Amino acid sequence: MLKDGWEARKVVVVGAGAVGSTFAYALAQSGLAEEIMLLDANQELALGQVLDPAHGLPYYPAVNISVGDRADYQNADVIVITAGAKQKPGQSRLALLQRNAAIIEEIVDDIVAQGSEGIIVVVTNPVDVLTHLAHTRSSWERGRVIGSGTVLDSARFRYLLSKQCNVDVHNVHAYVLGEHGDSEVAAWSMTHIGGMAVDDYCEKCGGCEGWEKVKRDIEGAVKRSAYHIIDYKGATNYAVGLTLVRIVGAILRNERSVLTVSVPLEGEYGLRDVSLGVPSIVSRDGVEHIMEASLSTDERESLIASASILQESIQELERSR
Ligand SMILES: NC(=O)c1ccc[n+]([C@@H]2O[C@H](COP(=O)([O-])OP(=O)(O)OC[C@H]3O[C@@H](n4cnc5c(N)ncnc54)[C@H](O)[C@@H]3O)[C@@H](O)[C@H]2O)c1
Repeated sequence: MLKDGWEARKVVVVGAGAVGSTFAYALAQSGLAEEIMLLDANQELALGQVLDPAHGLPYYPAVNISVGDRADYQNADVIVITAGAKQKPGQSRLALLQRNAAIIEEIVDDIVAQGSEGIIVVVTNPVDVLTHLAHTRSSWERGRVIGSGTVLDSARFRYLLSKQCNVDVHNVHAYVLGEHGDSEVAAWSMTHIGGMAVDDYCEKCGGCEGWEKVKRDIEGAVKRSAYHIIDYKGATNYAVGLTLVRIVGAILRNERSVLTVSVPLEGEYGLRDVSLGVPSIVSRDGVEHIMEASLSTDERESLIASASILQESIQELERSR
């Protein structure tokens, strides 16, 4: 029970599939929100995804989990969009993009129509293109519409480095930038273990042969993670669910955390007319500040190449409409 005058922190999750429902479950257990509303085009699915975790409420921090509707956008602190269509056999990448773009636009129109003052977090893939579209469609100020970007990829990168170096993952600081996808960039120049630049750490540790090759292998493994998991079990949901708790928690608690969320660039890194994952300060206002890291020449070129791929996708979508 909330004390009088205490405002419940409210999160609306649009899309109650594998990602939306796992995020809602993880968020409920985190104690970061008092109200969690799930919406889905499939009403029965939404109800099932609410009732199942709700029956565990005696064992959670106090939280209300319910099926929501559009009116819930109005006073939501954060709206997380995981709604999307799955690729049908024979469907082109562009056709799927068009379908998901239409879904995102419809949801954003509803959020704007409700006069929401919350923050939108887009998760649906291709997340960078759809974040860009959602931001443009909303006409909201930059920073209030963000994408989950490469926060998940950065977690995968940290995990693999911690395994390779046999160090607690919490002492590994590492970031993946750019597209959440094949052109993403592992920013080795920003990678530290216990405060030491990773190359220095490796030299002093002396624990592995052929460090440059190991680095390329780790980068490749981060990129391929989602493909493998989807082959094995049909979807990725747990790590992305926790990633979303991290992003949403930073917003709800005004943490000013450095996270590589996807955000529209306006000249940072020499880029504009594109949204992609860059280290950003995330607070109650969404993205409060974009950090311009001093990348190596190779990393900067790779980031520009990643942005070009995303810009082509945005333009292809615009041309097709
Ligand atoms: N950005 C990331 O890091 C990341 C990671 C994993 C998955 N994803 C993406 O998240 C999305 C969801 O994945 P999933 O595995 O949960 O898929 P899913 O098919 O299990 O769930 C999607 C849900 O969206 C619902 N939906 C469709 N149109 C809707 C609408 N207009 N309004 C409300 N609900 C609607 C569907 O009924 C379905 O329940 C996919 O696009 C996936 O690629 C992103």
